Amino acid sequence: MKNIKLEVNMQLAQFEELSTDDQELVNKAIEATRNSYANYSHFHVGAAIRLADGRVMIGANQENAAFPSGLCAERTAIFAAQANYPDQPITTLAIAAKNEKGLLEEPVTPCGGCRQVILEIEDRYKQPVRILLYGTKGTYVIKSVKDLMPLSFVDSNMH
Ligand code: THU
Repeated sequence: MKNIKLEVNMQLAQFEELSTDDQELVNKAIEATRNSYANYSHFHVGAAIRLADGRVMIGANQENAAFPSGLCAERTAIFAAQANYPDQPITTLAIAAKNEKGLLEEPVTPCGGCRQVILEIEDRYKQPVRILLYGTKGTYVIKSVKDLMPLSFVDSNMH
């Protein structure tokens, strides 16, 4: 048997090292945590996405007493963007989160379901989605969701 190693590529940036556009997007994600409805987990996640035309849209997690009926911040933003501006690819997605102690120190990471949804966006628009995972200690800058998903599954894997 052969051992196979897969690499994950990302950068760690201090907030000041980010471009002005990226700083703006991260700030929008931080602001969006205020719109989270997290009555059950008390974990407030904010997402901000930039579309190809420069438009920024935000999302925040929305929970429900019937747990599976809620939705993550990333998907509220992505689905709203697709529903309103289906011709606009998503170029960058930023995420931030707050718990009972405040903004997370370590970069917040998207759940598996959201990664799969971001992958579908890359596949649909045939271009990568840059991902900014904010933490007060630093921000991970990721070029494509594929870096977070080795052996990912898309439509072409079925044919
Ligand atoms: N959550 C998100 O909004 N995004 C993530 O990537 C991780 C988890 C939300 C879902 C739920 O409302 C709460 O955080 C706890 O899981």
